[in-house]
Amino acid sequence: MKTVFSGIQPSGLVHLGNLLGAINNWVKLSEENSKNYFCIVDLHSLTGLPNKDDLNKSIGDTLKVLIASGINLDNSVIYTQSKLQEHAYLSWILSNFCQVGELQRMTQFKEKSSSFGTHSGLLTYPILMASDILIHKANEVPVGDDQTQHLELTRNIAERFNSNYGEIFPIPEKSIGKSGARLMSLRHPENKMSKSSDDINGTIYFNDSKESILKKFKSSVTDSENIIKYDPELKPGISNLIEIYAAITDREIKDSEKEFQNLQYGEFKIAVAETVVDYLEPIKKKYEELTTNDIEDIVEKNLNLAQESAAKTIMEVEEALGIN
Ligand code: TRP
Repeated sequence: MKTVFSGIQPSGLVHLGNLLGAINNWVKLSEENSKNYFCIVDLHSLTGLPNKDDLNKSIGDTLKVLIASGINLDNSVIYTQSKLQEHAYLSWILSNFCQVGELQRMTQFKEKSSSFGTHSGLLTYPILMASDILIHKANEVPVGDDQTQHLELTRNIAERFNSNYGEIFPIPEKSIGKSGARLMSLRHPENKMSKSSDDINGTIYFNDSKESILKKFKSSVTDSENIIKYDPELKPGISNLIEIYAAITDREIKDSEKEFQNLQYGEFKIAVAETVVDYLEPIKKKYEELTTNDIEDIVEKNLNLAQESAAKTIMEVEEALGIN
């Protein structure tokens, strides 16, 4: 049976970009016959030196949204990275199988080191990510294209470990099939949808009211052609709306485009907004219904499962290294 691992950084209120970019895919994966670990990677978030209260709130909210999202907990484990200290422990071990030059060549490192200044956490970030994946011996990792390079590095680290100390780790692959949608801001469709967007009307949060969602979609930026066609370069606004609709309804972009080709932009915006409202409704409802007790039970049970799996791997790794 295959084992899947993926991680999401807690960063502010969960928005539609997080849901359609990652979480919605996780829900689908959890309907398959695999063992899945879905992790809130709060240790990774530390590289951005977040505000303590914001981070704490964000971890709690993200956990609750993951539980409410419909991920099947019969074969999936949801937990928070910092609660399983083996992640950081294995990361140290793996750092001995990774060259400094490899880390310095990572595109994300190059981009982020200029904006935050360069501390070594930014540099070694991909080793922690390798540790996340390898600690449960995952063989499949659903990630966006921006993380492909980190996954490649994980494979190299695993191979080096194995060739020095024996076949402990599977060599993980990127999940095939549809990768998550990459949503753009509704107001500035040339930028990614994010919490830090300068125009909050460009971001749909999971708990936005129906009125607010309709308002945000109505004020979304399009173009003056009045032709509904997928062309991210020339028509980023309209393409983003098509992308949102296709991701939620699990249809092909082409089919979604066709479905709307005779509509006016105004009508099209409302149709997409209503699809979003219907999509978020059950998640919001479940989120509100979750009691503190429910959450505590789920957190404890899931952390135990993750702990069990990590402890097994660590035992094998320590034995292979002679530190048992
Ligand atoms: N680096 C990923 C991101 O920024 C998050 C992440 C951390 C992750 N560990 C992971 C994703 C392991 C997949 C597998 O999106």
